[in-house]
Amino acid sequence: MAQTAISVSAVLKKRFSVRAFRNEPVPPPVLEEIFTLAQQVPSNCNVQPCRVYVVSGAKKDQLRDELVGEVMSGKPAYPDFEWDVRFQGEHRERQFGSANALYGAMGIERADKQRRQIAMLRNWGFFDAPHAAFFTMSKYLKLIGAVDLGIYAQTLSLLMAERGISNCMQGALGMFPGPARRMFGLAEDAGILFGMSFGYADEEAPANKARTDRVGLDSAVRFVS
Ligand SMILES: Cc1cc2nc3c(=O)[nH]c(=O)nc-3n(C[C@H](O)[C@H](O)[C@H](O)COP(=O)(O)O)c2cc1C
Repeated sequence: MAQTAISVSAVLKKRFSVRAFRNEPVPPPVLEEIFTLAQQVPSNCNVQPCRVYVVSGAKKDQLRDELVGEVMSGKPAYPDFEWDVRFQGEHRERQFGSANALYGAMGIERADKQRRQIAMLRNWGFFDAPHAAFFTMSKYLKLIGAVDLGIYAQTLSLLMAERGISNCMQGALGMFPGPARRMFGLAEDAGILFGMSFGYADEEAPANKARTDRVGLDSAVRFVS
């Protein structure tokens, strides 16, 4: 196993979503180790619904081109799962807060729609990451499967962080599932829930200077006794 010496607490204190990567693939044995360990995640009744597709190299570039082409064609998103919630109230405020943190770090004015769209488009270019993971499951599982996939993805994220690998989870990667479905040969009854771009962070990139805040413990947790 690779040498690792960072606690989960230390990872959480310094983690953030990375949206610019160096052009340096993760060595295949490290990939295999991470995804092997991630198999230990719990799942509801041990159903293990998560099927992950990890795309790299020329196939990743092909998928990037196809996805960017689809998004730029102007067609509306057509996710495999219901993913079209309009955030309300304090959720909406926090959504704006995270967008402002990102665009602010990138020096993009709120009114500059064109640059915001270009920045948004980078989602489907995998933020130049060398790898992207797509989290899929049987469509009938709906909410119960989504819980398991979320647990899987965050576990994966921690395993990556332990090895100096960064990521950005991306609902955006489930919005235009066609090209990935075709590339992976996904069965009709399976769907892409979301994805994750990952690799080694470009520490200097403006996008990676963005930081979001969190509500305090008193708003998030109530200890009842
Ligand atoms: C399920 C999920 C989907 C996300 N989708 C996207 C996405 O499509 N594009 C993106 O840039 N960030 C995406 N994010 C990252 C969030 O915007 C980010 O986690 C949040 O703003 C908090 O910032 P931090 O991760 O830097 O702490 C997603 C995160 C999660 C957990």
